[in-house]
Amino acid sequence: MGKRVLRTKLCDMLGIEYPILSAGMGPSLVGESTGAPVELVVAVSEAGGLGVLGAAGYTVEELREKIREIKKLTDRPFGVDLLLPGQIVRAGDQDAGGGREIPLAELVKALPKEHYDWLMKVKEEMNLPDIEATYKPGSTVMRPHAAIQVCIEEKVPLFCSGLGNPGFMVKDAHAAGMKVLGIAGNTRNARRIARAGADLVVAQGHEGGGHTGRIGSMALWPQAVDEAAPTPVLAAGGIGDGRGLVAAFAAGCVGVWVGTRFLASAEGGAMDIQKEAILKARDEDTRRTLLYTGKTSRAIFNKFHTLWDSSGLEPLPFPTQALFASAIVEMFNKARKKEYIAPFSGQVAGLIKEIKPAARILQDMVEEAADILTKRFPAGIVVK
Ligand SMILES: Cc1cc2nc3c(=O)[nH]c(=O)nc-3n(C[C@H](O)[C@H](O)[C@H](O)COP(=O)(O)O)c2cc1C
Repeated sequence: MGKRVLRTKLCDMLGIEYPILSAGMGPSLVGESTGAPVELVVAVSEAGGLGVLGAAGYTVEELREKIREIKKLTDRPFGVDLLLPGQIVRAGDQDAGGGREIPLAELVKALPKEHYDWLMKVKEEMNLPDIEATYKPGSTVMRPHAAIQVCIEEKVPLFCSGLGNPGFMVKDAHAAGMKVLGIAGNTRNARRIARAGADLVVAQGHEGGGHTGRIGSMALWPQAVDEAAPTPVLAAGGIGDGRGLVAAFAAGCVGVWVGTRFLASAEGGAMDIQKEAILKARDEDTRRTLLYTGKTSRAIFNKFHTLWDSSGLEPLPFPTQALFASAIVEMFNKARKKEYIAPFSGQVAGLIKEIKPAARILQDMVEEAADILTKRFPAGIVVK
């Protein structure tokens, strides 16, 4: 049998075989590796989808290196995902740090006193080791303009903004022959991003992993399609197999943006204990919390959530809360307090039973969707 064909207009827009993108996933916390590293990007793009680098945790210099690594390993289209916090985009890039790394243990001393005192209390009461992780200033999150410039100079085929509206850079990106995608968790933002000139909008439902909004995928996808029209929409949040892909098509989406399922792949960037947590998780095992970054994000529920809830503390603004949470998780990790560590993950974790190579995940998704569309639907649904 020849190779399976499953195409939408997204494939023509991006020059890919299948309308499946692996989501840009940064590190869950400072010091962790990215969820969507070079290996995942290359595997997905080589398999006929489009892999997106999760670049939120890199410095601007590392970003350029990673883009060049991808180009060496594949000549297929790929994407880069950055977070573009509105307040930093408006204020301008922050201190590049001159390449020096700052110990997290120093940084946490500058946090509000009640946060620092609580951190030290947890450390003492749980007998946790010292904080050793370092923070590299000059991350793409703190220097969005410089990071965008790198993407433009490198002519990254698809630029993706995971947070904020990429409208301000669309003209320059188009001049470099790039496409631009923005992610929205509600129809207001889907419309805003589309009207700002982005080529594609991702509509991510409440059930998705990482930063996530309040509207469920089933309600959001068709409404986002209507609001963003004529800009095409990709579906995200809760997609783990071919059934999710077909559901996205039914809602009018041209393709899918898949996070958690690719995080739990052989090439996904999560730590092994985090992949184990996804395999063990059932549908009810994730929660939204402000704990990790100061913005609502979905992660597998663990004892750190309960500890934080009992602290009575207010979350710090994004991204300061991430420094605070990172310092504590680093101590848990070194002390092997597994029950206090789990990754960002979507509710789809309950569907994930096996760590597979990313190419297999993509092929299985395509095969199942094709089977549903060509066999199961005609056999199971009577239409006259
Ligand atoms: C570990 C992890 C890290 C993430 N980091 C980012 C990020 O840096 N930028 C971004 O745009 N989205 C990020 N997300 C959200 C994904 O891009 C995607 O929208 C989401 O995972 C889709 O839902 P799903 O997990 O149900 O597939 C992250 C998700 C996960 C699971």
